[in-house]
Amino acid sequence: MHPSLNIAIRAARSAGKLLLRYVDRVDTLRVESKSRNDFVSEIDRHAEALIIQELRARFPDHAILAEESGAQGRGDYQWVIDPLDGTTNYLHGFPQFSVSIALRYKGQLECGVVYDPLREELFSAARGQGAQLNDRKVRVGKRPSLDGALIGTGFPFRNLRHIDTYLGMFKDMTLATAGLRRPGSAALDLAYVAAGRTDGFWELGLSQWDCAAGALLIMEAGGTVSDLGGGKRYLETGNLVAGNLKVHRAMLDLLRPHLNAQLKA
Ligand code: IPD
Ligand code: CA
Ligand code: CA
Repeated sequence: MHPSLNIAIRAARSAGKLLLRYVDRVDTLRVESKSRNDFVSEIDRHAEALIIQELRARFPDHAILAEESGAQGRGDYQWVIDPLDGTTNYLHGFPQFSVSIALRYKGQLECGVVYDPLREELFSAARGQGAQLNDRKVRVGKRPSLDGALIGTGFPFRNLRHIDTYLGMFKDMTLATAGLRRPGSAALDLAYVAAGRTDGFWELGLSQWDCAAGALLIMEAGGTVSDLGGGKRYLETGNLVAGNLKVHRAMLDLLRPHLNAQLKA
C-alpha cells in the first residue's frame, strides 16, 4: 500500500475513535459559532490536532491545510484535512459524519481517505490504484442517464447567495431523476458516488477539505469530477459535479441553463 495512504488511514481511524467517544454526549461539548450556521466544537479541534500530530510525526516536512487551524508550512506535499465533516449532524446526534484526509503533491491528488466511524466504513484511494471500501474495490454505478438515478447534493445553508439558483437546479434535478438525498457530509456523499450508492452528486460553495479526498475516490472508482463548467477547477471554485461519465455529462447539461456569470467563472 502507498505509505502515505497507510498513515492517513491510521490518522483517520484515531480521529474517528475520538468522535465516537463523544457522540452520545455532544451536549457536554463546548461549541462556538464561526459565522452564521457554521459551528465548531472542541471535538473538531481536538480531532484535527490528533490527525496533524500523526501526519507530522511521519512527514515533518509536509504542508498542512486543515479546516480549523488553516494553512501551515510550505512544500510540494500538502495534506488537506477535515477532521469532522458533518459538524451540524454530529452536534444534533444525527448519525452521518466523517473524517476526510487527502494528500496533494504539486497540486495533484495522491491519496485520500474518508472514514465513517459509526458504520466502520473506510473509503480510500491512491492515485492509479483504484478505490476501496474497507478491503473491497469499489466502482461508480453504471447507470446510463439521469432516468432512475439517485443523486446526492448539499443544500445551501451558510452562504445563501445562490439559493434561488440552487432551487432552480433542485427542481430540474428532481424532475429528471428518481430522487435527491442530502445526508449532510459532503466527503461521505462523494464516497457514496465512488461506491455506486448514489449515481451522482453536486453542491455549490464547498471548501477544499470537504471534497479533496472524495474527488480522488470518485476518479479512482472510474467516475468523473468537475466544476460546473465541466473544467477541473472544483477545488478552487468549491462548485462540484460528479458521477459516472454519462450521468456527469447529463448533470452538466441539466445545470448549465441555471448558471449565472458568477457560477460560470
Ligand atoms: C459541511 C458538510 C455539508 C456541506 C457543507 C460543508 P462541515 O462540512 O460537508 O454536507 O453541505 O458545505 O461545509 O462544516 O460539517 O465540516
Ligand atoms: Ca466539511
Ligand atoms: Ca468540518
